[in-house]
Amino acid sequence: MGRATSKVTIMTLAVSPDSEWWRSAVIYQIYPRSFADSTGDGMGDLPGITARLDSLKTLGVDAIWLSPFFTSPQKDAGYDVADYCDVDPIFGTLADFDAMQAKAHDLGIRVIVDLVPNHSSDQHVWFTEALAADEGSEARDHYMFREGKGETGELPPNNWESVFGGPAWTRVTRPDGTPGQWYLHLFDSSQPDLNWKSEWVRAQFRDVLRFWLDRGVDGFRVDVAHGLIKAEGLPDYTPAPDGGSMGGSGSTDVGLEPAIDSDGRNTPPYWAQEGVHEIYRDWHSVLEQYDGERVLCAEAWVEPLTKLAHWVRPDEMQQAFNFTYLETPWQAASLRRVIDNSISSFATVGAPSTWVLSNHDVVRHASRLALTAENPQGAGIGPKSPGQPDPVVGLRRARAATSLMLGLPGSAYIYQGEELGLPEVIDLPDSARQDPTWFRTNGERYGRDGCRVPIPWEPGTPGYGFNSTGASWLPQPTDWDRYARASQVDVEGSTLELYRAALALRAENSLGLGSIEWIENLGPDVVAFRNGAITVVANAGASAIELPAGRVVLASEPLAGSELPGDTTVWLAAE
Ligand code: NOJ
Repeated sequence: MGRATSKVTIMTLAVSPDSEWWRSAVIYQIYPRSFADSTGDGMGDLPGITARLDSLKTLGVDAIWLSPFFTSPQKDAGYDVADYCDVDPIFGTLADFDAMQAKAHDLGIRVIVDLVPNHSSDQHVWFTEALAADEGSEARDHYMFREGKGETGELPPNNWESVFGGPAWTRVTRPDGTPGQWYLHLFDSSQPDLNWKSEWVRAQFRDVLRFWLDRGVDGFRVDVAHGLIKAEGLPDYTPAPDGGSMGGSGSTDVGLEPAIDSDGRNTPPYWAQEGVHEIYRDWHSVLEQYDGERVLCAEAWVEPLTKLAHWVRPDEMQQAFNFTYLETPWQAASLRRVIDNSISSFATVGAPSTWVLSNHDVVRHASRLALTAENPQGAGIGPKSPGQPDPVVGLRRARAATSLMLGLPGSAYIYQGEELGLPEVIDLPDSARQDPTWFRTNGERYGRDGCRVPIPWEPGTPGYGFNSTGASWLPQPTDWDRYARASQVDVEGSTLELYRAALALRAENSLGLGSIEWIENLGPDVVAFRNGAITVVANAGASAIELPAGRVVLASEPLAGSELPGDTTVWLAAE
């Protein structure tokens, strides 16, 4: 059978020096609560991670990013930090962190930790001191305290809503029992926003950075990196109806059209304010004082991509998560556009694009890509959600989408469990749910627990080898034997082996440092490009197409004859 001919258009990406490891790195996100539990109490921990690091070496990742393991009351799974420079006892000790990091470094795996600067826990001594201090005092100025509106200050200072639902302000009670000022919390009421206009706050965080840099970390993922500075005067804001839970603009047009006006008129007064950038320039200079190449990665839900690129200007951060890509539907024209826009937007500031499909805040892509109803980020899915995903279609699309992503130049993020093909856990009992979103919306939004369930390692054992007791902070489904890592090792066609093969080929062919040449005319449902010696062809449609010429070196599904089935990606090399 003849092979389809193809037309080529060229899109270049600046090739970078090898030493800048972060330009092409594959970074694996560990969610410590759910990775591996050495004590059997149902909560993952640092020694658990250390014991399982070899498996990540075998997978072929360059770095790990750990979600927070710091001292915390765990009201938002550790994103409510009560001590930035210590380990919560549920995860171990600082010595356990050192041992974990030493093992990772021995294996050639870099370590990125999570920095949560927008807010602390309400149990942090900075906040308890602020509460105990007088109104208008220096200690109060470390947070965002304001007088209420109305005759007696009974109304919140403005109309902002918490990302997790409900008002973004809570009123405090004075020592004499009378109602006092209000404090801002863009997230849960247990997560008061810090005042980043305070020099004192800035100095504290320089020290936090140095504490972890001195310990040898390779970088920081920066939580809510678009939120630290709020607009002067804290003006009211009415969000767009599709605003997105983490504060994204909600644009569904793959980052092409600004969801905010060019003059910034529609920018929420708490996101993406110009003032954040001087903070990152300051941090950049702190990191530069250390040897090795330490990095900052922005968790910034900012659109369009040309604006997000401001976070990765040469004197700011090295990376920013590409959530526009994550939110792009499995649809060829949208994918081609978002890839083009990503590469060209970041190239304007000399930065690589990053690529990501799953993390601990979004519905796992093995389920998300088969949803048939709108599902705003952060809403999650539960038994009563409309548009329930077909798990077979979802996994097939996830494998194809990952195979497409790993062929792209730039840095790719993988979320623990996606290499096993894990779906979202949809049927968690209501009584087990822990996400503040669930509580703050009275169960209207399920929230993010479904992507956070402890991952399976071995079939047929308690907790699937997450621990040896079967205890689990979120209940694991009863049918996960087939997803367990040990069920997939060396099994041809397993999702784990697909990831391993893709990562090995990606490294061998330096795809992360490459550039793409689009291949057109393979049909409207196809995304195809050449990256160095590898041609990536993703068929996002339902019908098979003719397989282009070349030797198949990777296929997200078994191939029969010379056809490329729907929802399938192949990598081709010269014959
Ligand atoms: C983003 C984190 O990824 C999410 O899990 C957390 O709830 C919010 N920031 C608040 O810290």
